[in-house]
Amino acid sequence: MAREFTSVGVVGLGTMGAGIVEVFARNGIDVVAVEISAPALERGQATLTRSTDRAVAKGKLDPADRDALLDRVTFAVGLDALHAVDLVIEAVPEHLDLKQRIFAELDRVCKPDAILATNTSSLSVTEISVATSRPNQVIGIHFFNPAPVMKLVEVIRTVVTSADVVADVEALCARLGKVDVTINDRAGFIANALLFGYLNHAVALFESNYASREDIDAAMKLGCGLPMGPLALMDLIGVDTAYEILDTMYRRGGRDRRHAPVPLIKQMVTAGLLGRKSGRGFYTYERPGSPVVVPDEATPVAPADAFSEGGRAIAKVGVVGSGTMATGIIEVFARAGYEVVSVTRGAEKSASICEAVKTSLNKGVVRGKLSEEERDGALGRITWSATLDHLADVDLVVEAVVEELSVKKALFASLDEICKPGVVLATTTSSLPVIEMAMATQRPADVVGLHFFNPAPVMQLVEVVRTIRTAPETVATARAVCAALGKTSVVCGDRSGFVVNALLFPYLNDAVKMLEASYSTTDDIDHAMKLGCGYPMGPFELLDVVGLDVALAIQRELYLELREPGFAPAPLLEHLVTAGYLGRKTGRVFRDHTHR
Ligand SMILES: NC(=O)c1ccc[n+]([C@@H]2O[C@H](COP(=O)([O-])OP(=O)(O)OC[C@H]3O[C@@H](n4cnc5c(N)ncnc54)[C@H](O)[C@@H]3O)[C@@H](O)[C@H]2O)c1
Repeated sequence: MAREFTSVGVVGLGTMGAGIVEVFARNGIDVVAVEISAPALERGQATLTRSTDRAVAKGKLDPADRDALLDRVTFAVGLDALHAVDLVIEAVPEHLDLKQRIFAELDRVCKPDAILATNTSSLSVTEISVATSRPNQVIGIHFFNPAPVMKLVEVIRTVVTSADVVADVEALCARLGKVDVTINDRAGFIANALLFGYLNHAVALFESNYASREDIDAAMKLGCGLPMGPLALMDLIGVDTAYEILDTMYRRGGRDRRHAPVPLIKQMVTAGLLGRKSGRGFYTYERPGSPVVVPDEATPVAPADAFSEGGRAIAKVGVVGSGTMATGIIEVFARAGYEVVSVTRGAEKSASICEAVKTSLNKGVVRGKLSEEERDGALGRITWSATLDHLADVDLVVEAVVEELSVKKALFASLDEICKPGVVLATTTSSLPVIEMAMATQRPADVVGLHFFNPAPVMQLVEVVRTIRTAPETVATARAVCAALGKTSVVCGDRSGFVVNALLFPYLNDAVKMLEASYSTTDDIDHAMKLGCGYPMGPFELLDVVGLDVALAIQRELYLELREPGFAPAPLLEHLVTAGYLGRKTGRVFRDHTHR
């Protein structure tokens, strides 16, 4: 029989603590909520009230249930109030000495059979536990932010945590409606170990002006379907808390440079820019604690103005190539009202791409996405050709041929000869340096990357890649075109992986390394990212969709360009590719290997 918890204590009512109080009280458990001072207690109480009021306003909580919930919570200053509770969860700032002091005190105050839990994200639960005389009753219960919403709880057992305590806490998580994964005590556990390298990398991109905060966040939301971008997430977590987690992970997790906090993070902490809780972090908020972003000096001017600045008029577009991307891109332009010239390497290829575009448009009609007139209009705007010479009078060329540098360079040299002056020449490459193609022409200022995502008619995002030679008006034109296509464009520099792949693939590679180290299972890692971070797919599910060979190729490029040891492809990924486990397309997926 699992142990019955009738009352629990929560220490520290900040970002996490206040949410944890809400989780317990909502589930009928009495809570003693403790802070260090009266003003801090008041702040914590106000957070709880605001959050429950919001739930009532949204119709997610009955007013009577809110009152009952609040009645279950007793507030107090100091740990003495915790003498009678069955379980304590500590959620004070991420400092080992502070947590050890609190655990020593809890050990003294709490009844002998009380379980003492920490919500630490990165510190060693074992080191915290030895500050007490009952390390076998100490455990990690790691909630995710915001605690009332996120389904995942990581339960961390140390080598001495008793099996009964683990089982009781697992049963308690189920009672709270949470999904738990139970794991050993390692820096960052599952989710943070995979999340924080990515967050730090995103801050590094922002710090180096590689892309704006809005563009980095939009890229990850629209390119990967994440619930929020990395910089907005840093603000939600708390920039100070993120700093401490990174710092601890760096020191505990093998001194991986990717966890060494980017200098900007420390500067922001020193300047009091802590994120939502202080009203300002990477973004500015209506007031401290508010989730509402307000414009500040870094907010970009309204896109409509930016697009009119120096942008060239585009009416006729050439699309070179006959593969999946070219097909989608032709459709996107034709549907948006552009004249399109499709150029392939032969009449046969032109016939087949024409068929593919027709099929896709017909599907759109069947699904009610466009009318028959719109379909016919779009088709009427497309000319099918097998000669580059037909691009002599277009205003923009989008190249989507095979991902081979020599082929693309030769194509750009030909376009340079054929196209009229002032044309924007764009490549859809996802891994080659755009500057290489620009330098194959005599007009590098007119060359830009337009990185569409697959399937182009569906995916909202386009990365606009500016090289060190791209003219501002070329970028402005590219952005204006994306807007006219109904897409969201983000501008970034010409580095391997642009924004999305540079941030996504190292994370996927890290997940493979975690599996390889036998820390957890494919299912638990997938669960942790979906339920703890709100990702639409776990890393292994996504690898199966993307293709393990594609992931390996991108990871190799990133590694070769940056020579970052942490980016070296996971040996397991290399071996699976060699063995033909390429994901869904081959019918041999990650789980087939791990579930042998
Ligand atoms: N922020 C997140 O997204 C997140 C997610 C999961 C876990 N965590 C972990 O949760 C813990 C708390 O982080 P946070 O982001 O809520 O921090 P926070 O700074 O928002 O809140 C910490 C609270 O602890 C209080 N406090 C400090 N010393 C105290 C003491 N001696 N006694 C009682 N209360 C005290 C502070 O007044 C403050 O209200 C950390 O270990 C963190 O790593 C954070």
